[in-house]
Parts: sequence; C-alpha cells; structure tokens
Amino acid sequence: MYFFFAVLSLLVRESLLLRIVRVSVPSYRVRGQQAQFDCDYELGGDRLYSVKWYRDNEEFYRYMPKYDPPQHAYKIDGVKVDLSKSNDRRVVLHQVTLKSSGLYRCEVSAEAPSFESAAGEGRMEVIYLPREGPRITGNEQENKKEDFLFLNCTSGRSYPAAVLSWDIDGEKVTDKNLLVEYPLIQHSHGLLSAALGLRVPTGRTMQVRCTARVAPAWREGSEAVVGNSQLADSKEAMLLVRSSGEASTLSIMLLTLSFLQLLSSLIQSET
Ligand SMILES: *[C@@H]1O[C@H](CO)[C@@H](O)[C@H](O)[C@H]1NC(C)=O
Repeated sequence: MYFFFAVLSLLVRESLLLRIVRVSVPSYRVRGQQAQFDCDYELGGDRLYSVKWYRDNEEFYRYMPKYDPPQHAYKIDGVKVDLSKSNDRRVVLHQVTLKSSGLYRCEVSAEAPSFESAAGEGRMEVIYLPREGPRITGNEQENKKEDFLFLNCTSGRSYPAAVLSWDIDGEKVTDKNLLVEYPLIQHSHGLLSAALGLRVPTGRTMQVRCTARVAPAWREGSEAVVGNSQLADSKEAMLLVRSSGEASTLSIMLLTLSFLQLLSSLIQSET
C-alpha cells in the first residue's frame, strides 16, 4: 500500500515538472546544407520562461514568450540561425560550414515559482566531400630505376581527409612493401588531401584502382557501416597497367594518364 502511494506521488510529481523529452541534433551534415535541431519538452504544470540554445557553451539562440518578438539570435562563428524556421521547439541553421561542428545544447527554464530547468545535448560534425575523384600520377625518375612501376594517388580536398586504398585486379593491396605513405597535405579552410604511393610489379597486365573514402570521424574504422550507407562518399580512379619491359614504361605512363583523365571524367559524370 505504501509502495502504491509512493509510486503515485512520484508520478504526479513527475507529470507536474518541466522535463526534456528529446533533443535531436543531426550527427553529421555536409557543408552547405542546413541543419535542424529539435528540443522536445513537457512543461507539466509549469509556464515557459525561456528556451536557450548553446554551441560549446556559447549561446546563439533564445526564445522567451514574454518578449516581443520572443526570438533572439546571437552571432557566433559558423552558426547562422534562420529565424523564420525557428521557434520554441526547433532551431534551423542556414548553410553550415566546417566551423559549425560542435556540441549543441538546449536548455529549457520555467517561470516562477518553480524555476525548474532541464537540458539535453548532441554533437554535430560538418564534413566536406571532395569535388574531384582521386588522381593517379606517375613519377618518371622512380619509374626509370626499378622493375616496379611507381604510381601515386592523391585525393581531392575534403574534411576529414580521405582514406585511400589501392587494389590490383580487384584485390586490396595490404603489403606494406608495396605501399608508400605520405603525410596529409593541408589546404585553406582546413581542407585536407591524402596521398598514397604504390609499387606495381611489372611484367603482366593488371587493373589498378585507387579508392578515396571520406566519412565523418566518428565513423572511421567501421567500414562495414560506411560501405552501405550514404554517410560515406567514395570515389575511385582506375587504370590498366600493361607493362612488360623497362623500355616501354614511359609510353605506358603517358597512355595511362590520358586514359585516366577520361576515366575520371566518366566517374564524375556517374556520381
Ligand atoms: C606522391 O604525391 C605526394 C603528394 O602529392 C607527393 O608529396 C610525393 O612527393 C609524390 N611522390 C612521388 C614519388 O612522386
């Protein structure tokens, strides 16, 4: 009996208090898209005093029904509120930039006498997908020396950096002796390119492909998820290496490079 009343009074108390039902923040957005955050709450017996939104503890929007107009937006780096689409339960940002990434928090407060308040938050990351597919280039000096053909794959600018991989005749190259790693190349606006070299053993005809994959940082390392979702952007460049002897290497490079340009334009028109 006592238990029953305890539960009942708890329920009554709960239903009278302000509480956050759900705060939804998209985990990622592509640069240039708009972003919508929802803050769903129940006032219980309370009256709304304010709804405030913060990015990394910096306030950028508030809604206070007592004021006319009730909405107010503050300018902070990378956050531009679309007031016409925002209200007491929703905030919409104009085109997001890489600077819009961060932890977004909604805080709801009740009027006197309760002064109750509740908050919820979520992290959003803005990514930038490469405009061009990866480029494969050769290196004449390298290619004169050995009985290996040296190829270099460089990804288009993106954020975060693309993860590159090579495959020969459909099989991913994992042999570290065949791969040459390079540090990331920094561009303006925080964009990055990755480069990965490959030593192709000569002496037979093979199909060589370089794939660049860009996914939000929190998705890295979970390729299975990335592979079949729209979260990741994957582009590739392919070429046919028909190398037999040293003498022909140079002409093969020329051939493959023009072939590649054709291919990458084909790939681009597909996507
Ligand atoms: C491969 O490409 C990277 C990035 O463009 C460059 O730094 C590197 O020197 C290239 N390597 C060769 C051997 O051409």
